[in-house]
Amino acid sequence: MYTTTRCETTIPSHQHQQDQNHVQKLPSGLKMKDVSGSVVVVMVPLPAQGHLNQLLELAYFVASYGIPVHFVGSATHNHQAKLRSHIAPSSSPSDICFHDFPTPPFHSPAPDPNSTYKFPSQLQPAFDAASFLRGPIASLIRSLSLESRRVVVVHDSLMGSVVQDAASVPNAESYVFHSVSAFALYWYTWEATGMVLPKEDEVDIAELLSSEGFLSLRVSFTDEFLKFIASQHEFKKLSLGSIYNTCRVVEGRYVDLLASATANGISTKHWAIGPFNMVKAPDKSSKRSAHMCMEWLDKQAASSVIYVSFGTTTALSNEQIRQIAIGLERSGQKFIWVLREADKGDIFSGGGEARKIELPQGFEETVTAGDLGVVVRDWAPQLEILGHPATGGFLSHCGWNSCMESISMGVPILAWPMHSDQPRNAILITKVLKIGLIVKDCMNQNKVVKSSTIQGGVEALMASEQGDEMRKRAAELGVAVRGSMDEGGVSRAELDSFITHISR
Ligand SMILES: *[C@@H]1O[C@H](CO)[C@@H](O)[C@H](O)[C@H]1NC(C)=O
Repeated sequence: MYTTTRCETTIPSHQHQQDQNHVQKLPSGLKMKDVSGSVVVVMVPLPAQGHLNQLLELAYFVASYGIPVHFVGSATHNHQAKLRSHIAPSSSPSDICFHDFPTPPFHSPAPDPNSTYKFPSQLQPAFDAASFLRGPIASLIRSLSLESRRVVVVHDSLMGSVVQDAASVPNAESYVFHSVSAFALYWYTWEATGMVLPKEDEVDIAELLSSEGFLSLRVSFTDEFLKFIASQHEFKKLSLGSIYNTCRVVEGRYVDLLASATANGISTKHWAIGPFNMVKAPDKSSKRSAHMCMEWLDKQAASSVIYVSFGTTTALSNEQIRQIAIGLERSGQKFIWVLREADKGDIFSGGGEARKIELPQGFEETVTAGDLGVVVRDWAPQLEILGHPATGGFLSHCGWNSCMESISMGVPILAWPMHSDQPRNAILITKVLKIGLIVKDCMNQNKVVKSSTIQGGVEALMASEQGDEMRKRAAELGVAVRGSMDEGGVSRAELDSFITHISR
């Protein structure tokens, strides 16, 4: 039924020509090499923002080598990925073929800001519906396999079951994309297998593990999601290798440890080819966003502003938001605070009043009058904000996508992890890389973090010697990470190696 390998959208040829030129400028300095032969890549993301976004960036990288990329998902999630992409903010990218495949209607409940645990269980129905992509994806792979030398499937680590039919197509092969840090993944592997960590390790993981709270899987995930993860596990053996949105400059040690931990006689390959966000917008849209917070940043002193955002999955209670507002105001530090409700499984579905997130009375007037900060209630250009010289810190939930964006822009993090891999990422940032501080007591779930604690954390990162040290180290790491994507850099070499491997 869905055997078409053509893109739905046809592009006028003159425009196509133009876009091809832009492709050659993508990403920053990557040269277009025609190594494609007739290799095609099929990308299959998990339908959650941090996952969609990373795989779309990877799609651009691969497409910049002249290899056709087919990006697969439900219509709503493909639309979400394109709409929020920093690469092509206004138009749909023409060098990537999006396939909108049908999924059954799914329940798209509002997130519960009062839930004890912060895992976004409101997204589970969307994940479950995505399992119905298996049939259309199998058809796509089969029909592509007839007209290509090789079909390369790159799928989210949690979409293994959906792409399992690739294994029965002789000229198809699959690779797992991990959307979390190698550090977090190594830690999970260590827990699952009881491997002994090398002695000289910077972090005593055993000690951290014995602590209660967010580092415990039962707290940072729902039981339902743990089952979902487990159900994807068996399909890992069908893949020939792993791709990470990370950089050896950041955590090469853990990529190596993972490679040795997962070897078990099976030769799988590992490519650390991040940061994916280094992919640049085509020239015509590379002008910066017109968002009002960018102009506000222009008027602020260097490294004086803390950017506050907890990502797309976490809904905070009214009381917690009140405490954050008071903490920020009392710190006296300049801020940009992205105050949005967490995503639903279908961000475009109506139904029910969207929650109006209330701030303490007079808060917005006071901070605006004193030019202390900006509250953003729409989609913020996060990467650009982090890249602005006035931004000197990031109060973050430590989702891996946010971590990589902050690291590549050289901005230190005030870590406030909420769920999933975030607590482990926070340990990487604060204890291993030492480019951030942790919000005191945030690892105790189900407790409102007090305004005085938030104030203390913000002051420590933005206005203390310790914070300055973190900022210095983060800036140095940022230079190294950005350099890794230049010709001769370590991530560029791994990206080249992946492309060479799939076009062999
Ligand atoms: C969350 O709790 C607050 C305060 O108790 C209440 O006003 C609000 O309606 C609750 N929200 C939801 C979605 O249950």
